[in-house]
Formats: sequence, C-alpha cells, structure tokens
Amino acid sequence: MTAKILTNLNHHYQELQDNGADVIQGLTQNSKSLSPKYFYDDLGSELFEKICELPEYYPTRTETWILGQYANEIIETTGCCQLIELGSGSSTKTQFLLDTYQKKAEACKYIPIDVSGGILKNSVQYLRQKYPDFSIHGLLGTYEQALSHLEVNYLQSRMLFFLGSSMGNFSSIECERFLQQVVRTLQPGDYFLLGVDLQKPIDILEAAYNDSQGVTAAFNLNMLSHLNWRFKGNFNTNFFIHQAVYNEADTQIEMYLHCHKNHQVSLDSLDLQVSFQAGESILTEISRKFDLTTIQTDLHNQGLNTIKTWTDPQKWFGLVLCQA
Ligand code: AVI
Repeated sequence: MTAKILTNLNHHYQELQDNGADVIQGLTQNSKSLSPKYFYDDLGSELFEKICELPEYYPTRTETWILGQYANEIIETTGCCQLIELGSGSSTKTQFLLDTYQKKAEACKYIPIDVSGGILKNSVQYLRQKYPDFSIHGLLGTYEQALSHLEVNYLQSRMLFFLGSSMGNFSSIECERFLQQVVRTLQPGDYFLLGVDLQKPIDILEAAYNDSQGVTAAFNLNMLSHLNWRFKGNFNTNFFIHQAVYNEADTQIEMYLHCHKNHQVSLDSLDLQVSFQAGESILTEISRKFDLTTIQTDLHNQGLNTIKTWTDPQKWFGLVLCQA
C-alpha cells in the first residue's frame, strides 16, 4: 500500500491507492462477486445518501436517533479523544458527537475516512467552516489502507468509530480480520464505537433493500458504471437488474446484479475479459443483521470489551461502545 499526499488537490487530503486486483479475483470465480467498496464513486455516494433518506431504509434514521439521544453520554464515558471515523460519508451523524465537544468547549481532532473523494472533500470543507476550532483532516482510502496508515505512534487517546452497520457488509472472516486490524490500530484504553443493524422481521428488511423509488436498484447498477470508468470497462447496465433477498439462515441481505442476456465484458485497464451467461448473477453486497449479545462476544474475542450499548425503543439498531 502506498499513501500519496495530494498536495495539488487540497492539503487536507491524502489518497491511498488501489489496483483492482479484487475485481479480477471476484469476476473470475464460478460464483461472481464484487466488493461493495465499488458502490462508492461520487455518484454512488450521492445515491447512498438518498438511500439513507428513503422511508423504507430505517437504519440511518434509527442510528441517528440513538446518537442524538446518547451523544452526550458517549462523550461523558470516553472523555476527550481524537475521533477517527471509518466510512464517514457526509459525516451527518458524527455531528452529534462534534456538537457535544463544541458545547463542552473541548478541542477536538476529527479524521473522517472514506473511499469517495467528492463526498469527503465536501464534508471536510463544510465541517471546517462549521467547527473552525477543530482540527479536521480527511483521509481518502479503503478501511484496510486507512487502518494500516493509522498504525503509528500517537499521543492522544482515540475513539475509532464505524457507524451505519457497515461492518455488516463484511463476511464473518473479513469481520474478524477487520477487528484484528482495529485492535492493532488502537492502544489499550482507546475506544471503538460500532453501529450494528439488528435482526428483525424479513418484510421490513427486504423492503429496506428494494425501495419503491428504485434508488437502491440505481445504486447497485452504478457499481458497473463505476467499474467502466475506473477500469476502462464496457458493462452494459441495461443487461442487468437489481435483486435483494434476505437469507434467513445466514441472517443477511444479499444484493445481486442479475444478468439477463449473454454478455462479453472487457475491463481494459485490468487486462480482463469476462463472459456472462443469461441468468448469471454477481453478488455485490451482503448486509449482515446482528444479534446484540453475539456481537459483544465476537468483539470480546478480539480484545474489545463492551462498556455500554444503546438501542432504539424497537431494538432495530444497536450502538456498542467498547474499549481495547
Ligand atoms: C453501507 N451499508 C451499511 C449499507 C447496508 O445497509 O448494508 C449499504 C446499502 N446497500 C443497500 N442499501 C444500503
């Protein structure tokens, strides 16, 4: 991994590079898959922001409600620390934490990390105006890149946070590796705040990923447009349709792009040719739904001890604060 400072773009940015090896890996398997990180080019991030406002997509507003209710209690528990957010997007929910610091007149250092440069740049600009006394420094890259970039000595205590149940987009093995990397990044006593979507009836879950306005479908299909521009590809998005189903056995939503026509695809920058048969699908995302007790055991097994949990009255979403 190489970290590149984009001094000519904006000195508050660092870009962490990516080479598309995972695209080759995912599209050359019998069951094709792509990493959900490819949802998030600038258009994908905008579509995701729209998803967050959809009536059917309850996770964002539920987690926002929990943060609004308990931001003060969270900051009271952790005391003053450097805030590092993985997958910050527009940083909307984080502002509850930043507001709490501001009310307490505490100095705050915030590092938002995202794979999408456009949304990161806009949110950093906005936050620097809104919180002129805070030090805010965006980091552009994947979680792995960012976490290894952060594995350096530092003085102030940290709270790393990962909201929106983005950990649900990792398989259990990826989740384990991710938590190990989190633990390596933190020093004993540092905090990790995790937002997790909880198990609930299937109709609520499937509606959240098959919204009536088709925004989730557009978000899913945009992954192919993203690969087209990023890797000089020729996916015809008209040949694919969005599918999202809840797999009850694995307690996860699975999102697919279903190809309904034979299709030859080239991704020139990766020197990759892929054949699709009509009826074949690409798995683009899993979104695991958690049990609040089990996740605390998983965190504990990785060396992260739960201090407090918060949830909403319906117990649809959980926030877990743990300490390394
Ligand atoms: C980012 N992530 C937690 C979202 C989710 O719910 O799994 C991504 C998403 N995919 C479709 N809708 C939202």
